[in-house]
Amino acid sequence: MSQKALLLDSKFGSFKVAAIPRPTSALAGELLIKVHASALNPLEWKIQDSGMFIPDESYPAVLGLDVAGEVEDVGEGVIGFTKGDRVFYNSGLRNEYAGNQQYCRAPAEFVAKIPEKLSYSQASTIPTGFLTAAYGLCADAPLGVGLNPAFDDVIDKFQGKTAIVIGGSTSVGQYVIQILRYLGFSTIIVYASGSHFSYLKTLGATDLIDRKAVPFSHFDTAIKKITSSPIGVVYDTIGSVDSQAAGYKMIPNGGKMVITVEDEVKDKAEGKELVLVFGNVHPEDHREFGGKLFSKLPKLLEDEIIVPNKVEDLPGGLDGIVEGLRNSEDLRAMKSAE
Ligand SMILES: NC(=O)c1ccc[n+]([C@@H]2O[C@H](COP(=O)([O-])OP(=O)(O)OC[C@H]3O[C@@H](n4cnc5c(N)ncnc54)[C@H](OP(=O)(O)O)[C@@H]3O)[C@@H](O)[C@H]2O)c1
Repeated sequence: MSQKALLLDSKFGSFKVAAIPRPTSALAGELLIKVHASALNPLEWKIQDSGMFIPDESYPAVLGLDVAGEVEDVGEGVIGFTKGDRVFYNSGLRNEYAGNQQYCRAPAEFVAKIPEKLSYSQASTIPTGFLTAAYGLCADAPLGVGLNPAFDDVIDKFQGKTAIVIGGSTSVGQYVIQILRYLGFSTIIVYASGSHFSYLKTLGATDLIDRKAVPFSHFDTAIKKITSSPIGVVYDTIGSVDSQAAGYKMIPNGGKMVITVEDEVKDKAEGKELVLVFGNVHPEDHREFGGKLFSKLPKLLEDEIIVPNKVEDLPGGLDGIVEGLRNSEDLRAMKSAE
């Protein structure tokens, strides 16, 4: 039996839709998912450009990190799922487990049921953004800065504390804001374009700095105008040399900052910690915390403590992904140059 998949044909190669063998039953401990939506992620064009992450022997490679669909088959030993359940999943970059194909495999512990109010498209966009925020803020070191390793309801612990989110309107940033609100931070200062302010307030931002009006060179002055209270945590989703330097300057002695791309901070000081997050459940040391997150996520979505990013459906099925990735790359280059 065959299925359609979007293949990256070789290292640094091109994407093309082709027919490949289709798995027909789930393995033990796993589910087989009929994919309805696969979310785009900047990592996919980064993989195409840089050749990173995918071993040579895995080409032609199937990508697609975030998936929503219906359960087609339930593997031996899996409880809590039945055929036809609407589910979403954070995939690993292994061909049969990736999202850009009609059917994919999934370890059951990293699959969650989709609350009724969310569409497949909405659910597919949640995992990487949410996980990158949650690992960075909540998991213990070295995965994150350890604000809530049990990922349970924390009331009071962060009251009176301030957090800063550089790049609050990014896909990751929107989840960072919501998790900081869930943790109970009193002040959540967000750096983003002013056009997003009213929306970001609905997610939990309390104070906003317009990146179109305030350059990074004036970032610390803008923060000091808002608060003189100690900064509990800084999260930089942008990852430019300037954003990391501006965020680093705001970390108090003994404080911590989460970054999403490699550390480029020069002139480091003792007692300030940087954690590079990896928002994926599959590496061995990520699995335990990932399982915790996936078990709690449906209720957080049901209660609207976490809401998905705004979603755009792309036409054209698997072919639409290629055009979408190209647009996301162009859009990002355009925005960064502004
Ligand atoms: N380590 C990991 O596991 C991991 C996981 C996911 C993503 N990432 C990385 O994290 C970064 C963010 O990814 P994403 O998917 O969340 O991004 P995204 O949604 O594509 O972010 C786009 C937004 O970035 C904002 N932006 C660009 N330059 C900015 C600046 N100088 N200051 C403030 N905002 C700026 C723009 O916001 P405005 O509209 O407000 O101007 C734009 O709308 C990427 O580099 C990605 O590769 C890493």
